[in-house]
Amino acid sequence: MEKVDNAKGLSDIELNELVNRYITQMTLDEKLDQMSGNGILKYLIKDRNFGVRAYPGGGVERLKIPPFLFTDGPRGVIIPGSTCFPVSMARGATWDIDLEEEVGEAIGKEVRAHGGNLFGGVCINLLRHPAWGRAQETYGEDPFLLGMLGTALLRGVQKHNVMATIKHYALNSIEDARFKVNVEIDERTLREVYLPHFKYCIEQGCATVMSAYNKMRGEYCGHNAYLLREILKKEWGFKGFVHSDWMWGLRDTIGGITGGLDVEMPRKKYYGKKLKRAIRNGKVPVELIDDAARRVIRTVLKFTTREDPQEYTKDLIGCENHVLLSRKVAEKSMVLLKNDRNLLPFDKHKIKTLAVIGPLANLKNTGDHGSSYVKQNKIITPLQGIKRFSGEYINILYHDGSDLEDVKNLVASADAAVIIVGYTYKDEGESIPLIKRGGDRINLGLKSEEIELIKVVSEIKFNSVIVLVGGSAIIMEEWKNVVPSIIMAWYSGMEGGTALANILFGKVNPSGKLPVSIPKDPADLPFFDRNADEIEYGYYHGYTLMDKKKCEPAFPFGFGLSYTNYNYKNLQAKTTVDSIIASVTVSNIGSIAGEEIAQLYIGFENSAVDRPLKILRGFKKIPLEPDESKTISIEVKKKDLAWYNPETKSWEIEDMKYSIYVGSSSSANDLLKIDINL
Ligand code: BGC
Repeated sequence: MEKVDNAKGLSDIELNELVNRYITQMTLDEKLDQMSGNGILKYLIKDRNFGVRAYPGGGVERLKIPPFLFTDGPRGVIIPGSTCFPVSMARGATWDIDLEEEVGEAIGKEVRAHGGNLFGGVCINLLRHPAWGRAQETYGEDPFLLGMLGTALLRGVQKHNVMATIKHYALNSIEDARFKVNVEIDERTLREVYLPHFKYCIEQGCATVMSAYNKMRGEYCGHNAYLLREILKKEWGFKGFVHSDWMWGLRDTIGGITGGLDVEMPRKKYYGKKLKRAIRNGKVPVELIDDAARRVIRTVLKFTTREDPQEYTKDLIGCENHVLLSRKVAEKSMVLLKNDRNLLPFDKHKIKTLAVIGPLANLKNTGDHGSSYVKQNKIITPLQGIKRFSGEYINILYHDGSDLEDVKNLVASADAAVIIVGYTYKDEGESIPLIKRGGDRINLGLKSEEIELIKVVSEIKFNSVIVLVGGSAIIMEEWKNVVPSIIMAWYSGMEGGTALANILFGKVNPSGKLPVSIPKDPADLPFFDRNADEIEYGYYHGYTLMDKKKCEPAFPFGFGLSYTNYNYKNLQAKTTVDSIIASVTVSNIGSIAGEEIAQLYIGFENSAVDRPLKILRGFKKIPLEPDESKTISIEVKKKDLAWYNPETKSWEIEDMKYSIYVGSSSSANDLLKIDINL
């Protein structure tokens, strides 16, 4: 097939003409072939493993229409050897749209180098509750943040002519019950809380959508005509194709095709022959097949006819530049939660002996072992990272923490201690039937032996830093007051150990901010049931719920310390025809350079309807040298102030006084506030 200029690609008219030409030449069987993956069992037997190749579907050899070739993410391309990035939740903590686009580009290049063209790894499900096993695969609890980072990833991926998939559409926020749970939700909550991030990604030109396993309002999402046909395809004008999630994403031939599911993955179970029979029996109009086949070949042709911006040779896979990028992301993702007496950064010349302790200190621990598991061996553990950094200057004493008497002796002879605790793929992750691992978390805090370890070490040495590993919020009330320093390190990818050392010793000034709220008490969270058959998703969760209930989180959404301090002043706002533009002066008032993430929330105190106290509507990363000040502006589109009126079935912007909050976290103490009329 002839290639066309990448920036432009085929125009819509040219593309449609080409697709029409093909559709008229295709047989019914060829059209049906577009609507399924080419099977999985044969590859599993051949490879004796999952995810070691890109899995094909669609394509017509006779007409030279290429197949789509699917591979998973989002931690990187899961095929062996690929760069293992920090998990999406960590990337959410960077609040860095440009950086996430760079990650997308690296992933796009590696997909192509592996021979794939479809990346099934833009996971943007909303974190409703930190127990959700797959929390690590998404970017946090806030729809706006999810939308901004999801669009960045897909933009990067698609630059390299790889079709991106956003998943799992929609309401997929419980893992263990994912195949059966029915989510009840009112229209405002659906539109304002659980769908905006999907809509942002569709507006950005996302090529494909993966439907979720769970049900919404009694109907499986893969059959859900309201979600797929009405909202996605009709209202949002989505032109790409919808493919099912893999194991039980489609349960019924007619349900799927009438519901708007274009492609069954990964094999022909309910489509293929059964779909052909349904057409012959007059139960399914052939126009639906034409529409689905057209969507698949249109999308595949759109991406495969564009000229590539570069070559994609195998040496791109896990290449040095991508590994360095992974390190940079890890450095920008770690969140300094507590740092009493400025214990950190450690002074390399003052600390002679450092104890590195804990079950996770020397473990290759990059996250879950389900479909997002990037098979990469070159992982720097925290202990390796710290040892490399320390070189000959510091004596490192390591213990896995299993014997407290040994630990006590070891810590007594050290100048400071770093304790690395938290979760692994055994505690949280994708739940794969028959293989017992992952799934939703049972506890939201640390294990009792880890808490004991923290307490024992802290009694001997007050100079201890707790490094937490996990995919979302960890409750810390039992021990957080007995330690001076806490770092939330997430699952930090193949270079996480290096990044951690760079932060501990001050080579890097931490800049990450929480993409989730960390509660003091599980009672401050919405109801969660990992085995639910039915659940209702309410309008409030995360910081909007805590604002509503007026309860203080342990650490608020958007919070993160630095080795320097920032000051905000002079908040102003003006309106234009379609936006509000806020400006504020941010200063670095400490003695080292850093990067501050300024956040803008809109407040609705004067609303005539029930609305959150405030919601995130903008943010900006600001690099600042010591004593430097910058006046920055953040724009909010007026359409992003709207609420969804279920009676008029439309988005409405209230004519009232809005509050603008700008500052360093979602806590009222950290925000400046002014009011503005539209
Ligand atoms: C997961 C998807 C994944 C698919 C293919 C499913 O079980 O839910 O996220 O893309 O498997 O591996």
